[in-house]
Amino acid sequence: MAGVRAPGPPGPVGPGYAALGRRVERLGGVQLGDVAALAETDDEAREWALTEPLINEVRAAHTLLIGSPMYNFSVPATLKAWIDRLTFPAAFHAPGTGASVLDGTRVVAVLSRGGAYGPGTPRNGHDFQAPYLRTYFTNLGVPEDRLHIVKAEMTIAGLVPELARFQGFAADSLEAARTAVRSLATDGFR
Ligand SMILES: Cc1cc2nc3c(=O)[nH]c(=O)nc-3n(C[C@H](O)[C@H](O)[C@H](O)COP(=O)(O)O)c2cc1C
Repeated sequence: MAGVRAPGPPGPVGPGYAALGRRVERLGGVQLGDVAALAETDDEAREWALTEPLINEVRAAHTLLIGSPMYNFSVPATLKAWIDRLTFPAAFHAPGTGASVLDGTRVVAVLSRGGAYGPGTPRNGHDFQAPYLRTYFTNLGVPEDRLHIVKAEMTIAGLVPELARFQGFAADSLEAARTAVRSLATDGFR
């Protein structure tokens, strides 16, 4: 089963994922390639078969491109489900040294949000999307200077009559995001 990629977004992790993860943590120093042999039940084997391809995909990536709308001040449940499944013990740190295998990985997160959250806005401080992703990826070992967060704000200004006065802001924000993404896409794949 290992290597089979489930279609669609990953589902939430289940008891087999947690049990296998706890076993790997308890043993310590487990190589990723040895995890499958540690599964003791069909449920654990099934959970690992869903998890391992996602880990390998991220480990092999030069650049991870993430597109995420803001949902209720944070990331959508589908993105969180991917993050929860991906973040298996020992997935991104070398056993023994604990060094991150993502220290050369670049992450570009392109975020859209219906409102605006910058300094001076009434919702400044309500953004749990960008800071969450920053904390998550730096904690995994992605260097700060290889983590790029691009935001397009006030995306619903064209829909909601009370926000119509912010349509200029929204257009500028979208254009700035496009410029930032273009520049990241053409800066020579550092
Ligand atoms: C379920 C749901 C929750 C949302 N929650 C927020 C929110 O908390 N704050 C916000 O600014 N926009 C929120 N929005 C608006 C989206 O972030 C916005 O429409 C975004 O542009 C959607 O991304 P897309 O344009 O890439 O589809 C929400 C939209 C949906 C559907």
